[in-house]
Amino acid sequence: MVRPRLTQQAHQVFEQVFGTAAVPQIASAPGRINLIGEHTDYNDGFVLPMAIDRHVAVAFAPRADRVLRAYSAEFRHSRDVSLDTLERRSAADPAKHSGRGGWFGYVAGVAWAMIRAGHRPNGLDMAIVSDLPAGVGLSSSAALEIAVARALAEVAGMPWDPIPMARLAQQAEHEFAGVACGIMDQVAVAAATEGAALLLDCRSLETRTIPIPTAAKIVVFDSGVRRELATSAYNDRRAACERVVAALQKRDRWVHALRDADDAMLAAVAPTLDPQDVRRASHVIAENRRPLSLANAFADGDLARAGRLMMLSHASLRDLYEVSSPELDALVELSIEQPGCSGARLTGAGFGGCAIALVEEGSVERVLSSVEAGYEQRFGRSTTAFVCRAAGGAGLLVAGSW
Ligand code: GLA
Repeated sequence: MVRPRLTQQAHQVFEQVFGTAAVPQIASAPGRINLIGEHTDYNDGFVLPMAIDRHVAVAFAPRADRVLRAYSAEFRHSRDVSLDTLERRSAADPAKHSGRGGWFGYVAGVAWAMIRAGHRPNGLDMAIVSDLPAGVGLSSSAALEIAVARALAEVAGMPWDPIPMARLAQQAEHEFAGVACGIMDQVAVAAATEGAALLLDCRSLETRTIPIPTAAKIVVFDSGVRRELATSAYNDRRAACERVVAALQKRDRWVHALRDADDAMLAAVAPTLDPQDVRRASHVIAENRRPLSLANAFADGDLARAGRLMMLSHASLRDLYEVSSPELDALVELSIEQPGCSGARLTGAGFGGCAIALVEEGSVERVLSSVEAGYEQRFGRSTTAFVCRAAGGAGLLVAGSW
């Protein structure tokens, strides 16, 4: 559920910026955490993300012309672009768009991807507000892309189909933000179901909802470390996986991604590869089995087993994939020391950002306060922590319903 205060804010900001003539509708999309299956999505593998009850909300109304105008309450800044200009650009070299535009790049990028896919979005005024922290690995960019896509689809009279829309948003991220991300974030944010995680096969894009046991609470800890070199480090990891796939393909032509490989296949090509690339691939191969295992542990209500899987995932991301940080490692160690916490791990791309902990309902307060105190003591700065609930995916609120 989008917090009523956020929808009110979206409405108010829209009125202040664009005047009161039009009554806006509100599109929203949540952030996400990933429970397990990290750096597996761009290897055609499995992931188990969960949308969280923090959102980007976009108050929007159609315009008579072909201009897309957006105001960001966070940046206190208004930007616009003509859809005709985007249409002309859609035929041009997409590389030219990369890295353009900051937050507005995501907005324009989604419209650009829609046009390129043959849709014809209309001009819109949009006021963007959010209670989802940005730049901390909770997919605020995917939430912005999908909320904007929801608004554009509504005004263009397009049926809302989450998976194709997630693909368009992913293209926007690739071309406009220069991040070669997988499909996990956009699908989670577009298609999640309230109360459940989403088991996603990133090859077929089939999804299965996995109810979260009611006794389990998920606590998010923001390390406060921003991910400055994250884009290049992320793209490097992806390139390492591709090098291993190329070596595997020389022996087995049917291999298309690391999802198709097992440990024996990797061992057979390992002597021809850089040992660092081999470590990266062995993380992916083992991690790819974990989303299904965690889904089964949840189905059995076995939080201890679920927690152990999370710990294995974290160790692998730290030691083999090397995307953790001292702060994230400390958040995991401090959490698991507490009775009632069955597991913890970094979530999302890593290189800073957030950790999550799986905690029994009655232990949440103690885990929160102990980890906060321990973190402050170790690093001399605080962690922002909150308990999150499993939210539904992108939605639309009709005027007057909030
Ligand atoms: C980021 C990307 C996702 C995924 C994760 C790592 O969140 O956007 O596609 O690759 O990192 O699992």
